[in-house]
This record gives sequence, structure tokens and C-alpha cells, in this order.
Amino acid sequence: MKNILITGGSGFIGSNFIHYLLKESNFSGRIINIDKLTYAGNPENLISIEDEFKDRYSFFKVDICDKESLANIFIKYKIDAICHFAAESHVDRSIASPEAFIHTNIIGTFNLLELARTNQDHIELFHHISTDEVFGSLGDTGIFSEDDPYRPNSPYSASKAASDHLVRSYHKTYNLPVTISNCSNNYGPYQFPEKLIPLMVLNAVENKPLPIYGNGKNVRDWLFVNDHCKAIWTIMQSGKRGETYNIGGNTEMENLPLVEMICDILDDILPENGNRPHKELITFIKDRPGHDLRYAIDFSKLQRELRWKPEESLTSGLQKTIKWYLDNKDWVNHIKSGEYRTWIESHYS
Ligand code: NAD
Ligand code: TYD
Repeated sequence: MKNILITGGSGFIGSNFIHYLLKESNFSGRIINIDKLTYAGNPENLISIEDEFKDRYSFFKVDICDKESLANIFIKYKIDAICHFAAESHVDRSIASPEAFIHTNIIGTFNLLELARTNQDHIELFHHISTDEVFGSLGDTGIFSEDDPYRPNSPYSASKAASDHLVRSYHKTYNLPVTISNCSNNYGPYQFPEKLIPLMVLNAVENKPLPIYGNGKNVRDWLFVNDHCKAIWTIMQSGKRGETYNIGGNTEMENLPLVEMICDILDDILPENGNRPHKELITFIKDRPGHDLRYAIDFSKLQRELRWKPEESLTSGLQKTIKWYLDNKDWVNHIKSGEYRTWIESHYS
């Protein structure tokens, strides 16, 4: 793989993956990042990369629903691998306005697959990033394995399920060399503060309520984003084409104790903060419609076949993440004030 097209590389996981590939991995080729820069895409995530890796990194503001622009980039840069992150990714937004999820997650993925199919002679790999949410919700017991049926419950997970099926079908029908990974909830640096962990950290620091949906007993399996990046690169290099791999953190937690953990860490590292104990900010609010009770993921296939396992513990991962949000006040302020949007508009209008 010499020229990897990364879609959605300016979002949370995509930008962490670009940092990982260029700074920590054995990859020696070039990255072409295309991103529409929706509210979730932030060029500031990659400022240091633009400076440090001028010869190996290029960015284009492109919508994956725009076939013509995609085709031009594909040909100009002799793309031989695709790592597809671009998506609308937030469940609550998919409940409020599902349409963008259908366009980007389904049609956008279809456009990329078509481009790969029509350039198949020089495509080594199409890696599709997906979620454990396609499997639906578990009760108190059980664990998702790669062979489980898909039972998505939100417009977000349904659109991701549709895209997974399309990717699979392009392998079965056209023999496109694909791999798919279905990962559990990620957390870490550069996550947009609408998702649970960064939202709670930033609200707690500002003495704002910490809104917990329902009774706080919903369970997620948390994975530190750098562990996810390592898993993706492992699969891209050694995964069997046509296969799906589950990725998980082995860290099941109910939402309430997770938020309490965040509060305890903040009590320790911000002893002078007048908001202590931060737990007192916790507020229970109306539940999310169709709220999946529990996700748990069996990643033994990835562990057995490709020797990957998560390295970060939840405690150390949360400590690193909270510290990152406290240390990167400019990044946080630019998002909160909307300044990052003004910057994008002035640079890409
Ligand atoms: P994110 O919302 O932070 O980033 C998504 C990126 O895609 C943004 O930069 C956005 O601008 C870009 N984008 C959106 N629509 C686009 C379009 N039409 N054309 C081009 N770019 C577009 O999301 P994330 O959390 O980084 O998730 C990345 C991928 O990982 C998604 O496919 C998501 O389904 C999957 N995933 C996420 C998690 C998680 O916990 N965050 C877990 C498992 C899988
Ligand atoms: P989220 O980070 O949105 O990820 P996902 O819905 O994809 O799992 O939410 C994680 C869990 O936290 C989920 O059970 C919903 C819950 N949640 C809250 O209780 N309060 C909040 O403000 C948010 C954003 C999420």
C-alpha cells in the first residue's frame, strides 16, 4: 500500500489514525485525506501533520457523495488502498434528522465502492470502518460475534449496517479485496464533545449538569482510540480479504459508574476546582428513544488470527483523555465558540 485514500480523516478516529500511521506505524507511503468538513470535521486535528509531513500528506475538502471529485483524486494520486471512516456518526443526530445518514453512510459508501470496482486492477484493499451497533442490543448476558445477525435499532446503526452489506456484496460479487471492522465505543483525544465522555469532561470542568439518559444502566464496551488505530492497521496489513473483524476493549461499563469515574479523576486532578465533588453535577434526563441497553464484543478472532489486543486500561485511558482535554484549551475553545467553522469557511469557501 503506497497511496492510501482516507475518508473522514478530519474527524475523531480518522485524525487519530493519520497521526498513528505517520508517527507510530511502519507505513512509509502517502496519505490522501478527503473530508467534507461537516460540523464533526476539524482541520485543527491535523495541523501538526500538515507541517511535519508535507511530502506524505494531502488534504481535500470533498464530499464522498460527489462522484466526480472523488474520481479525479483517485486517478491523480494512483490510489491503491482505501480506509473508509467518513460517516455521520452520532446516534442522537440520526434520531433527530436521519437523512444525512442515508446520504453519506449508504450512498457515499456506494460511490467509493463503485470507484474501487472500476479501478480494481490497482486496488489492493478497501477497508471499511464500522460499528458494533449493527448487531443491535444485548440483554444482561451475551456477546456479539462476527457471525451474529444484524439487528440495528437507530437510523445511524441501520445506515452503517446497509453500508457493511454493500461492502460485503462487492467482495462476493466482484471479488473486490475488502476487509470490514466492527468496533465498540471509542474515546480519546479529538473526540467531538457531543459524545458521552468528552461531553461529561467539559461540562464538569465548567460546573454544568452531567446529563445521563434514563437510569444510567446502559452498558458500552469502551476502547481507547489508539488501540482501535492499531487494530485497523493490523487488519489492513494482514487481515484476510473478504473477512470481518470485531474490535473491542474488554471494558464493559454502565454509563453511571463511568461518569462517576470521570468525576473522581477530575476531583483528583483539579483539587482547587470549586465544583468538587463533580459527581454532584450528575442529572438524570429523559431516555433516548430506542436506546440500546448493552453492547459487548467478542474480539477473539482478531486476537487469535492477527495477535491484536487492547493495551490501554480504562483508568489510564480516561486519565490520558481528560488530561488531553484540559491541556488543549485552544482546541476546545475553538469548537465551543464555533471559531473552527469560521476558519473552515474562510479557507474553503
Ligand atoms: P466523526 O463524526 O468524528 O468523524 C466523521 C468524519 O467524516 C468527519 O470529519 C466528517 O466531516 C466526515 N464526513 C461526514 N460526512 C462526510 C461526507 N459526506 N463526505 C466526506 N466526509 C464526510 O466520527 P468518528 O467517531 O471518527 O467515526 C469514524 C468512523 O468510525 C465512522 O464510520 C463510525 O461509524 C465508525 N465508528 C465510530 C465509533 C466511535 O465510537 N466513535 C465506534 C465504531 C465505529
Ligand atoms: P454516545 O457517546 O452517544 O455513543 P453511542 O450512542 O454510539 O453508544 O453515548 C454513549 C452512551 O451514553 C449511550 O448509552 C448514551 C449515553 N449518553 C448519556 O447518557 N448522556 C449523554 O449526554 C450522551 C451524549 C450519551
